[in-house]
Amino acid sequence: MSEGSGNLIPVSIRLLYDGMTVQDNVYDADGDRLLITAGNTLNADQIERIHRINSGRDTIFVTGRTHKTMVSKRPNIDIDSRAEVEENTGYTEFKDSTSDMLGEIAGKKKVSQESLNEVADALSDRIISTPPDVVMSLINSMAPVDEYLQRHSVNVGMLSGLIGQWFSLGKEHIDKLALIGLLHDCGNTFMPPHVLTAERKLTVVEYEVIKTHPVHTHELLAEFPEDVRLAASSHHERLDGSGYPKGLKGDAIPLEARIAAVADIYDAMTSKRPYRAPNSPFKVLAQLESLCSDKLDSNVVGVFKQNMPKELIDKPVTMSDGTIGIVREIDPDDIEFPKVEISKRVVKTSTALHCVSMFSDD
Ligand SMILES: [Fe+2]
Repeated sequence: MSEGSGNLIPVSIRLLYDGMTVQDNVYDADGDRLLITAGNTLNADQIERIHRINSGRDTIFVTGRTHKTMVSKRPNIDIDSRAEVEENTGYTEFKDSTSDMLGEIAGKKKVSQESLNEVADALSDRIISTPPDVVMSLINSMAPVDEYLQRHSVNVGMLSGLIGQWFSLGKEHIDKLALIGLLHDCGNTFMPPHVLTAERKLTVVEYEVIKTHPVHTHELLAEFPEDVRLAASSHHERLDGSGYPKGLKGDAIPLEARIAAVADIYDAMTSKRPYRAPNSPFKVLAQLESLCSDKLDSNVVGVFKQNMPKELIDKPVTMSDGTIGIVREIDPDDIEFPKVEISKRVVKTSTALHCVSMFSDD
């Protein structure tokens, strides 16, 4: 098997679609027989023939570039494609490792540095080798509510690492950002589950209890260097001193915590929670901007706002009237209301017809 455009990866044959142009050669389930030649645009008959040639097996081998097209440009997504994409990109493995880590914390009341460093290094490697829009499609997919903490931990790790990449930070620093993101909310394992999953606004007392979770994060990370402990436990601190648990101000908040804060807000607000529906990435980007300077680091929000919109272009989105559109244009001065293609017509969205969330198969 030889391929000039990068390593071949196994993916599901069901992600091929009518009208897809294949950038690089595609190989069969054994990885050695050429199924589709680079440059071919597929139609339904060809796809059926390829299924037959592949002897009914689900796996084919494609380059990362072709995989990116398969998962990101496809307007109609199979019911199980989110699970497939998560499996094929290694997200499921990270989610399971993080779930084990959180279970271990609940049992032993501490986090083992050795096992976590391994997961963070692997996550960081994955962030660097995966196209940013695929990372974003994983983060933007609608997570089941009962998997929130492990997914949120992986997502904030991925997103923090991605922001580090956008800042052109070195691999070691990206490893550290991935680690801090993975660990930032581990103190939540100490929070009463009925408060974490409450389908209503929290009472003042409950909110005060929840505000102690970063203190638990700091305590749980006793085996880690103090800079990691401080950054992980400072993700709710705000530049103007209005955050918690310490009310740190300005530069007293480590850069990694300022990055994790933006990643945390983005993922939390775009996620489905028991007490509210998800917010669209466009609405969250607009809100992040309004929190700039006073509360969030404007450099971090700036790099986020500069890079994130291009990862959302050409992606399917659920509209407020229930239709599915494809994001076609995002005006940097009006991020909240992008232009969306609906039934072959490009429309400017507005409060009357707006994007509710990125389209998900749940
Ligand atoms: Fe938190």
